Amino acid sequence: MRFLLQFCATWGYKLVFKPLMFNFSTPDGAHSKMISVSQWASGNRLVRWFIKYSMHYENPMLKQKIARFKETEFINPIGLGAGFDKNAVTATVMEGLGFGYAAFGSTTARYCPGNPKPWFRRLPKAKSMMVYVGLANEGVDEVQKIVSKAHSSSKTLRVGQSFARTNDAFAADDAEGIKDYAYSLAALADKTAYLEANISCPNTFKGEPFNDPERLDALLTELDKIERSQPLTLKMPSDKSWDEFKKLLDVVVKHDVQGVTVSNLRKDRAFKNVDGSDAYIPSDWNGNMSGKPTWALSNDLIARTYLEYGDKLCIIGLGGVFTAEDAYTKIRLGADLVSLVSSLMYEGPAVLPNIKRGLVKLLKRDGFGNISQARGVDAKKYVHGPSAAWHKAKGDSRHKAKG
Ligand SMILES: Cc1cc2nc3c(=O)[nH]c(=O)nc-3n(C[C@H](O)[C@H](O)[C@H](O)COP(=O)(O)O)c2cc1C
Repeated sequence: MRFLLQFCATWGYKLVFKPLMFNFSTPDGAHSKMISVSQWASGNRLVRWFIKYSMHYENPMLKQKIARFKETEFINPIGLGAGFDKNAVTATVMEGLGFGYAAFGSTTARYCPGNPKPWFRRLPKAKSMMVYVGLANEGVDEVQKIVSKAHSSSKTLRVGQSFARTNDAFAADDAEGIKDYAYSLAALADKTAYLEANISCPNTFKGEPFNDPERLDALLTELDKIERSQPLTLKMPSDKSWDEFKKLLDVVVKHDVQGVTVSNLRKDRAFKNVDGSDAYIPSDWNGNMSGKPTWALSNDLIARTYLEYGDKLCIIGLGGVFTAEDAYTKIRLGADLVSLVSSLMYEGPAVLPNIKRGLVKLLKRDGFGNISQARGVDAKKYVHGPSAAWHKAKGDSRHKAKG
C-alpha cells in the first residue's frame, strides 16, 4: 500500500503538481506556495498522519551514530539542506517526509529582507535553480524560538539550524562580522541537534570574507569561546581549488568544529546541461546555481576532504543529489550524511523514500551491513585513480586533476 502511495506521489508530483507550478507560477511564487502548503500541513493532524504513513521508509541499515559529530545518532543519512525553509516553520512535515535531519535557515543576527526579487530562476535543463535570496529571514531571535520548539518535539528528525552573517547595510568590517556570527551562535546554543555556520553565501554584498584562512581563524577563535552542547559544521564554498580549500580545513580542525558541509552554490556559469549541451544563462539574471551544476564540484571536495581529514570531521555532502545512486556516490566518496534541496523541488516528496529504499538495495548489492561501512570506499580511487572513464561512469563530467 505504502509503495503504491509513494509511486502515485512520484508521478502525481511530476505529471500534475510540478507542471502546474512551473507553468502557472513564478519560481518565487512556487517556492512560497511550497512553504505555505508545508506549513499548513504541519498544523493539520490528519494531513501530517497521511504524509508520515505514505512516505514512511526506514531500515536499520541506514541508522548510524557519528562519533565525530558528538555521538549524534541519525535514523537515516538523508537530510534537507539549508535554504528551503529559512524560518524553520516546516519541521513537522520534514520529519513526516522521513528526513533524518534538516538544516533550517540560514538565519542571521538581525531580521534580513534579502536581495531585490526575483530570488529564483529555474534552469530545468540543468536540474538547477539559480538562487539570489541574499539570506532573507526573520532574524535569529524569532527563529530560535521556532527551531528550539521543533527540536524538543522531534522524535526522529535531527533539527539543525544554519546561521550566516546578516546581509544588510549595517554590515561593516570583520570585527562586526564576527560579532554578528557570535550573536547568532549564542542565541542558538543548546537549542538544536546541530548547527551550521554558513561562511559561503555567494549572494551577499559583503562577499565571503571568512573564506580566507586567517580571517576564518579569527572568526572561529571567537566562536570557540561560546559554550554549546551541540556539534557545529561549517558550510563550505564550492568554488575553491583543493589547495585553497585545504588551507581552510587546516584552520577548521584546530577549532571547536565537528564537521563540514560540502558545499554551497556554484558561481561559475560555464557548465553543461544534463544532456551535455552548454547551459545558457541570460546576463541580467542574478544569482548562483544549485543542483546538478554543483555535483562534480562537491564530489571532488568531499573525496579530498575525506582523505585528508575524514577521521576528524563529519562530512555532510550536498550538491546535485537526485537519486539513490547519487547519494551513494557521495557516501562512497566520504560523506557521512547527504543533504538535498533542489531535488525536493524537482522530484517532489517521494524523492525521500525512493532514495532511502534505493540506498538499502545498493548497500545489500555491495555486501555492506550498514551505511557507515560504505563511507569513503571510493575516495582514493577518485582522487588518485587515473581513469577519467571511472569519473564519467559516476556521472562526473568535470573532474579536476589538481592536488
Ligand atoms: C532555494 C535555495 C535556497 C538556498 N539558501 C541557502 C541558505 O540560505 N544557506 C545555505 O547555506 N545554502 C543555501 N542554499 C544552498 C543549498 O543549501 C545547497 O548547498 C545547494 O543548493 C546544493 O544542493 P542541491 O543541489 O541539493 O540544491 C540554497 C539553495 C536553494 C536551492
